[in-house]
Amino acid sequence: MSGPDFTKPIGGDRAVAHVRVNGASRPLPEDPRVTLLDFLREALGLTGTKMGCDHGQCGACTVLVNGRRVNACLTLAVTVDGDQVTTVEGLAGPDGRLHPVQAAFLEHDAYQCGYCTPGQLCSAAGLLEEVALGEPSAVTPALDRIADVELTDDEIRERMSGNLCRCGAYTNIVAAVRAAARGQAAHGRAR
Ligand code: FES
Ligand code: FES
Repeated sequence: MSGPDFTKPIGGDRAVAHVRVNGASRPLPEDPRVTLLDFLREALGLTGTKMGCDHGQCGACTVLVNGRRVNACLTLAVTVDGDQVTTVEGLAGPDGRLHPVQAAFLEHDAYQCGYCTPGQLCSAAGLLEEVALGEPSAVTPALDRIADVELTDDEIRERMSGNLCRCGAYTNIVAAVRAAARGQAAHGRAR
């Protein structure tokens, strides 16, 4: 028995469903069981997004859907019809300029083996947007002043807690996210 076809788009008399991945329009797979993670890796060859647990527990598969962090292993590809997906391959600008979190991870040595790094980068990019929008976390102390969320180390740890690192690079990851946030505050919101 053959497995899911990751590449065959919806056809026949049905409208073809599309998603924009890193700016390019892509037909979605016909099989409704295909996860976004498998679609990205198997059909599109975007292997930067990693599979760790495949159960929503490690964050290795984190990508951005319309700027929001999601676990691609828990997201069915058909549910992102018409959406914008950004993977680690799409974080840098079209001119190759690194996203602020990518530059900060390099500067602060925030990785070891690098397996968790794509998910950490996408998560950190989403985190910066969430903080810029004044969205609280579980440790935000004053919910009546969420517009002024201070990105303390506790806030960073809480907001990055869905991303596990087997190498234990957490100290430098926190430092990198802190630095990226400061750079963003100094230069206006990142892309
Ligand atoms: S692979 Fe998706 S959360 Fe672990
Ligand atoms: S750098 Fe190795 S798992 Fe995080």
